[in-house]
Amino acid sequence: MSNILQVLGTGLVMSLGVLCAQQNAPQEKPAETPPPATAATKKENPVKAAPEVLAAAKKIFGYDCAMCHGANGDGKGDLVESMKLKMKDWHAADALGGISDGEIFDLIVKGKDKMIGEGDRLAPAKVWGLVHYVRSFPKKSAN
Ligand code: HEC
Repeated sequence: MSNILQVLGTGLVMSLGVLCAQQNAPQEKPAETPPPATAATKKENPVKAAPEVLAAAKKIFGYDCAMCHGANGDGKGDLVESMKLKMKDWHAADALGGISDGEIFDLIVKGKDKMIGEGDRLAPAKVWGLVHYVRSFPKKSAN
């Protein structure tokens, strides 16, 4: 009888150990692996920079982005002082040089630091339009 109890007991301890190990494994993983880049990071802009796309993006930019980035992308929006923002002037040719279209897409959706992302408030096509629009500033004059 005591033998059976012992076997049962050992079995219980072992299966508990396995259970714990299984529970611990997935908890440890996210801490070690960096958040996966979304598919968009490597994506080319699937939307054409047609005049109506840029016009729609300009409108969105006016009410969602200009208060920080400035209506003409110079980084001198109304909120810059009060929020103590460090903004880039997108007319500088290299301001957006190191960042891919997909990264700009992700940034607009997810935000970064004090910039709040659009989340799902904007349809992806509109976000891609904004990517074109943001990229168009260096080609324009600073005024
Ligand atoms: C609350 C102010 C704020 C608003 C609103 C905002 N941004 Fe930003 N944005 C920032 C800040 C601050 C950074 C710099 C983040 C960093 O690198 O730390 C930034 C960075 C960026 C960048 C990366 C290049 C750069 O200048 O550093 C892009 C592109 C961008 N924003 C686009 C947009 C678009 C498009 C919108 C509107 C949909 C928008 N932002 C709205 C504050 C804002």
